[in-house]
This record gives sequence, C-alpha cells and structure tokens, in this order.
Amino acid sequence: MTTLQWGGRFDAEPDAALLAFGSSLEDDLVLAPFDVQTSLGHVRALAGGTVISADDERALRDALLTVQREIMDGSFTAFARGGAFEDVHGAIDARVRALAGSAGESLHAGRSRNDQVATTLLLYARDRAAAGGKLALAIADALEARAADALERGTLLAATTHWQPAQPVSLAFWLDAAAQGFVRAADRFARVVNDAKRFCPLGSSAVAGSSLPLDRTAAAYALGFTAPSRNALDTVGDRDVALDLAHAATRAVLTASRASEEFVLWTTPAFGYATLGDAAATGSSLMPQKKNPDPFELVRAAAGRALGTYAGALATTKGIGLSYHRDLQETKAQIVRGTEHALAALDAFARAFDALRFNDDAMTAHAIDGYTVATDLADAMIAGGATARAAHTAVGERVLRAEREGRPLDATDLAAIGVPQAPLDGNASLAAKRTSGSPNHDRVTESIAGTQREIASIMRELA
Ligand code: ARG
Repeated sequence: MTTLQWGGRFDAEPDAALLAFGSSLEDDLVLAPFDVQTSLGHVRALAGGTVISADDERALRDALLTVQREIMDGSFTAFARGGAFEDVHGAIDARVRALAGSAGESLHAGRSRNDQVATTLLLYARDRAAAGGKLALAIADALEARAADALERGTLLAATTHWQPAQPVSLAFWLDAAAQGFVRAADRFARVVNDAKRFCPLGSSAVAGSSLPLDRTAAAYALGFTAPSRNALDTVGDRDVALDLAHAATRAVLTASRASEEFVLWTTPAFGYATLGDAAATGSSLMPQKKNPDPFELVRAAAGRALGTYAGALATTKGIGLSYHRDLQETKAQIVRGTEHALAALDAFARAFDALRFNDDAMTAHAIDGYTVATDLADAMIAGGATARAAHTAVGERVLRAEREGRPLDATDLAAIGVPQAPLDGNASLAAKRTSGSPNHDRVTESIAGTQREIASIMRELA
C-alpha cells in the first residue's frame, strides 16, 4: 500500500530524506482522535449530499470508529510510524482505506487535507482550551480555599513592590490576588472554546470549495459548530483560533510562572515563609541537606517554552498570503507542542501548590519589617488635616530616625507627628483600610466570595 495520498502524475519515488523532512507525523499524533472526528464529520457531509451510498457511509463510520479504538490502544501509532506518512491526516486516511475496502477510497471525496487540518485544529483547540480553562479554575479555586483558611488564621505578610517591603497585608490577600490571574486565564481559555465552535471549515476543500453536493451544514452541526465557514479561501489558511489557544496557554503559564517565582523565594531558608512537601521537592546528588522546589522552577521555565513556541507559530504565519501554504504545517507543530507542555505545567503547578505549606509565624513576624506601616502613619496625618507632602516628609523623618536607632516605629513616633491612634502593627493597619480591594479582612472576604462566584460561572461555561 502506498503511504502517499497522490501518485498518478508522478513517475519517480520521493526522496526519502525530503519526505522525512516534510513529515509532521510525530507532532501530529496528539491530533489523531480529533482528526477521526473531523473525518466522521466529512462522512456526514458526503452522506447528506448523497455523494456516497448508505452502505459506504456505514463502512466508513465503522472503520473510523475502529481507528478511534486503535488510537486509544496504541496500535494506530505503531501503524502510522510504520509507514512513511507525511502527516497524521494521511495516516488515518490510509488506515481507513485498509479497513473499509472500496468504501475507504471515497473518504477523501471533496476533501483536502487543507480543510481537514483546519477543522482538526479547531476540534483540538476546543478540547485543550476547555482542559486549560478547567486547570486554571482548579488552581484559582485551590488558591481561594487556602485564602479562606489563611484569613481565619490571621496570617500576615509584608507586601512588596520592587521586592522591597511595602505595606502589611494578609496571606489571604496575596492568595486571593494570585487567584485573580488564574480566573482571567480561565476566561481567556473559555473564549477560545467559544470561538472554536463557530465556523466549520469542512467542505472548503483545498481552497475553492467543491462541486460535489457536500452537506456542509450537517457536517458543521455534527461537529458542534454553529455554521459552515463563509469563505473557503480564507478558511484553509486561517489559524486564528489555534493561535489564540497558544496565546491563552502561554498567558496562563506566564501567570503560573509569577506565582512560582514567589514560592521559590518563600521556600528558601532566608525567607522561611513556606515549606515544600517531599512529594513535590527534589534533592541534590551532592549536597545532602538540599531540598529544592524544582516544580516551581520548571513552571517558570515552561513559560519560556510556551512563549518560544507561540512566537514561532505567530512568526510562521507572517506574510504567507491567503489560502493554505505548507508553512502552516509548522504552526501546527508549534501550537501543539507548546500547548501540551503549557497544560502539563499548569497541572504541575496545581500539584506543587498542593504540597506547599505556609509558615504562618514567619510570615506574620516579618509583616512590619522595613517600616511597612509608614504609609498608615502618613494616611492618619492626612486624615487629620495634613497635606500629603507634609505627612510624607514627617513620617519619612521618623523612619530615618528609627532606622538610625535600630528600632521599629513606636509610640514616640506617633506622638511626635500627632497621630497617637495610628496603626503600628499589621492587624491595626489592615483594620484601618477603607477601600474596596484593600487587604481589610472584610474586603478580602468579599473578594474571595466574588471570585468564587466567577469561578463557578466560568466552570458552567466550560462544562
Ligand atoms: N501536511 C500538511 C499539514 O499537516 C498538509 C498538507 C496539505 N496540503 C498540501 N497540498 N500539501 O499541514
């Protein structure tokens, strides 16, 4: 059996090295189950337009369902690797021809790999965006659950800007902050899911549609799309949704990489804010005392890989003109590889976070280090009628003096600047906070509840 999908007008065999260079099979294998769905959709279009008989329809369906099983049990991969296939799409076609006999010869009627790849990528995007969205929501949910616990325990934390001590907050406030990014990540994934349900490429054929009476609407509905795509020339070269998937995946891992960076710092003995459970940590082959937070470091790094493959996919589409060009095969490889690794990184982040334990006392003990209540003192002066500039200068002078004397701000400073009731510790600072979105206990409670509602709503959308 020839493994190529053409031949009549060729006299000589292809150069093996060029064929191997041109093959995307290894990158494509993950797309196989989606390509079977695409093919079932095309069978629907063929049958709806009575291009094939009811017997052939049945034979093709049976063969495709067999391929689906062979994908699950691994035997399809062995078959595909055994032939010199250009891509998984051709391998599935070849397997169907082997299984379905003469009916198999009709599967490709009115179809090109161009509309086949475009459809398969949309089905893949739908599936992986839903998975990515659920992962991001699970992380957001875990962060909020830990935030609610931390709020009960009253754990404080010094918020930083520029990594320098800034103002007292609570651990709950930090965890709730981290959750926001993952909710936005889930929302981006959810938009990709919706976009991947709009227009079905099937029946666009190579570039100009088909003169066979394909039932494009039936195929589109069968695959859960809203409608057939409008313009075949556009459709076969359109990778927008697949690129949006790569974008959403990259952005989600970037979000995870930022939280990971903090966890790496927090687990150092110098910080002592958190301890990573043995299940998630690794040791050193040389230094017996070591316990390293590798999963969080690898998640940081995964953002680099995701960015690289996403940028590569974007760059591949630059200037290639409308319609299908072979360059687009490369976008597929990069989008698939980047997305798979990004989703694995989100899963790893969730697992590592689960193994992270916070050291409440250490965090709370450092919450007012570095004069983090200074802004509260200035605010108290402003509330008492001072100008912002005057308050800033007066408190700054007290900080300078305290620093020289090697002590924290205390009652003598409050007396000197005329705000005896101003907060000197973290809890008083949080209690004094008035604005929504601040680390005041009640405001954080509201934010956690609001975020949990949003998580539930995006989850319903993705379900
Ligand atoms: N292997 C290509 C891909 O996976 C499909 C080839 C499409 N068409 C063509 N005329 N070469 O994107």
